[in-house]
Amino acid sequence: MTQEQKFESLIEGIVSKGYAVCDNFLTPNEVENLLVTFAQRYDAGKFKEASIGKKSEAHQESSIRGDEILWLETDSINDAERMLLDKNQAFVNYLNQTCYLGIVDTEIHFAKYAIGKFYRRHRDTFQTQRGRVLSVIYYLNTHWVAENGGNLVIYTQEEGLEKSIIIAPLAGRLVCFESEKLDHEVTEAFAERLSITGWLLNRK
Ligand code: OGA
Ligand code: NI
Repeated sequence: MTQEQKFESLIEGIVSKGYAVCDNFLTPNEVENLLVTFAQRYDAGKFKEASIGKKSEAHQESSIRGDEILWLETDSINDAERMLLDKNQAFVNYLNQTCYLGIVDTEIHFAKYAIGKFYRRHRDTFQTQRGRVLSVIYYLNTHWVAENGGNLVIYTQEEGLEKSIIIAPLAGRLVCFESEKLDHEVTEAFAERLSITGWLLNRK
């Protein structure tokens, strides 16, 4: 699949179901480089326990959310991170040209779920006033097996019935969904689970 075909299949999923999954969005080599960077950043002690709630009233609540995160700061990024931002921006540009989503900014963080951690059912828009249109998650877990748990579960409505979509956090996979519309959760991880999560925003 060309990059354009990947964008098209993602858009088709978002328009028809509110979410989409694209495998091999990142190449094994890109994943490898991002994992090296991830480890460097983590070892530098830069990650923080993620919080819940809007900025002003944010607090840590490990019974709801147990990941550790590091926001990407565009003024100090390396080649691997630049590659990811460029790929993400290419997707944003395609979305804006084809779907007129008016995405003007992004926010992106690394996320690490240690063994035993999870993120209970939530919606991504409760955390921020910024206009989150789409959530994008790039997974970095090579050799991931079902016994590791750590699935993303997206809840959708079909003919009035709730349906849960289970998505494993496989290396190279990109998941994208409408931030305001879909509840989702991360089930308990039984192995370390690494990802890069972003939001595409329609406000600066
Ligand atoms: C989040 C989130 C899902 C995942 O960070 O808000 O829901 O699969 N992440 O990591
Ligand atoms: Ni979320």
